[in-house]
Amino acid sequence: MIIMKIFGIFGDPIEHSLSPAMQNAALRALGEDGCYHAFRVLQKDLETALCGAAAMGFSGLNLTIPLKEKAMELDFLRPDPLAQAIGAVNTVAFGPQGVDGYNTDGWGALLALQDAGVEVRGKNVLIIGAGGAARAIAYTLAQEGAGISIANRNEKKANELAGLVGAKGFSLLELDRLVPQADTVINCTSVGMRAGDPRLLEGRLLSSRQAVFDIVYNRETELLQDARGAGAVALDGVMMLVYQGAKALEIWTGKNAPADVMERAVREALAARRAGRG
Ligand code: ATR
Repeated sequence: MIIMKIFGIFGDPIEHSLSPAMQNAALRALGEDGCYHAFRVLQKDLETALCGAAAMGFSGLNLTIPLKEKAMELDFLRPDPLAQAIGAVNTVAFGPQGVDGYNTDGWGALLALQDAGVEVRGKNVLIIGAGGAARAIAYTLAQEGAGISIANRNEKKANELAGLVGAKGFSLLELDRLVPQADTVINCTSVGMRAGDPRLLEGRLLSSRQAVFDIVYNRETELLQDARGAGAVALDGVMMLVYQGAKALEIWTGKNAPADVMERAVREALAARRAGRG
């Protein structure tokens, strides 16, 4: 009997995840006999759920809010050096040797920037936010040789992350000064996910020599509208979502992931959702 490979994503909330549409399209395109499903797993149940998945022979999992950092507390899960440094795991692989943890978020962001022709090496990159996503991106871009500044509502958290990646930390009150100095501005906060969210920064601070990357992907944020208005390169979070998923799929299958197929699946799922069909 051939047993289908099982993949999935654990998180809470999870019903709006686009990963099942994206990964199932990729598995079909690769000719893999597998399926990918979303599971609502509470933080307190992560250990039990992961042990269950391992016992049932799952091939791979993604973790999302609020489980990425929680996974670091589990002694049977072995984070690779990057996940260890970031302090968060978004990809789990089950192998004969045990359960391995990876973080592909920063990789996804880097590829999305490269795709859009945005060079970070030797450039001033302003990261707004100091949560899990900001940590992954700050580590990866620091490794790529970007000069990083981190601004966060909670300045202490900005300073802590800045200390870890050799950057400088600031409060959001300094954005008026920091934004015009940056070559690339990256929003790693959740601000903009909902229509009507207040602006993080004023559009007049942006200019056509800049790139603005907003990791929000469910809608065109006011920040990206302002960036387009200023003639800046404006990049949403769709390709970061695609590339972090592509990297995870490569870790699980050892095959090159079909990023074009995955992007199409995500854009179709987003369009269906906007039309009220998703
Ligand atoms: P993620 O894993 O998506 O990064 P997170 O770890 O909860 O999520 O981080 C959320 C980030 O968005 C934080 O930087 C948070 O700022 P604080 O550290 O000050 O909490 C930021 N954030 C959330 N809501 C915000 C708001 N209304 N204004 C400014 N920053 C906000």
